[in-house]
Amino acid sequence: TTRIILDCDPGHDDAVALLLAHGNPSVELVAITTVYGNQSIDKVTRNALSIARVAGITGVPFARGAHRPLVRKLETAASIHGESGLDGPELPEPDIRLDPRHAVDLIIDTIMDNEPGTITLVPTGALTNLALAVRKEPRIAERVREVVLMGGGYAVGNWSATSEFNIVIDPEAAHIVFNERWPLTMVGLDVTHQALATPEVLAAIAAVGTAPARFVGELMDFFAHAYRDAQGFDHPPVHDPCAVAYVIDPTVLTVQKVPLDVELTGTLTVGMTVADFRSPAPADCTTQVATALDAPKFWALVVDALERIGDP
Ligand code: BDR
Ligand code: CA
Repeated sequence: TTRIILDCDPGHDDAVALLLAHGNPSVELVAITTVYGNQSIDKVTRNALSIARVAGITGVPFARGAHRPLVRKLETAASIHGESGLDGPELPEPDIRLDPRHAVDLIIDTIMDNEPGTITLVPTGALTNLALAVRKEPRIAERVREVVLMGGGYAVGNWSATSEFNIVIDPEAAHIVFNERWPLTMVGLDVTHQALATPEVLAAIAAVGTAPARFVGELMDFFAHAYRDAQGFDHPPVHDPCAVAYVIDPTVLTVQKVPLDVELTGTLTVGMTVADFRSPAPADCTTQVATALDAPKFWALVVDALERIGDP
């Protein structure tokens, strides 16, 4: 099993990522950390704890992280995730308590307390916590196994013409994370726009018939309307679990090694994740991008995780 830290801003698709990681037996959630993004840090942190209750996640530390970007002004995604950050279902009162540590310290402690090369970082929100963690304790860069993040897109944006939400809301943090020496896989919009919750997918989830599956159904109902109204999608793209799915089964994604960087100074392109495809990546290249998704395999993993979770 792969031990993962999920750093998230739930968030409808973050919730699905959390359920997938919890339900799949080949990954073990060792910590869950939150970051502002889809909504304020207070809201997304509460959402994470509510999801834990729905999914029956116990014995895993949850810690609250950054409340704003390193440099830029706070921006949230109420147009996609609603006022709560997780609009749609009724959110149960959390029954677990937050870890007293800041997310940055929980990330550092978890990586330093485990054997080198055993912890995978899976960020599905802004990269602020990771940037702060690697600046506070630079040894984590050699010690993690890899970083598999949902964010960016080498050919497509969603928050601007060129840029994806998780990257553009804190491009300086993303710049730090993309330029560290840890192996990094960018699971961007290039593939997550293929992870669509179609009517067939929703029927397979509904057929699981449990409370967590109904919760996902209600989330997807809101998400579908929001994505239709705000971005013109027929079916909503469920971004974040794509990164978790890759950790579970790398054959879910096609990946390509390529130098990557984050634009900080463009007047039209700030937050763009720039991939240099001109020639084969140099031997010391530490970054790769996902270029294709096996959508049936991906959704089968999500349904399988829900089946295994059952009615906790
Ligand atoms: C990303 O932005 C957030 O709104 C989603 O949760 C996802 O992580 C997609 O651009
Ligand atoms: Ca997210």
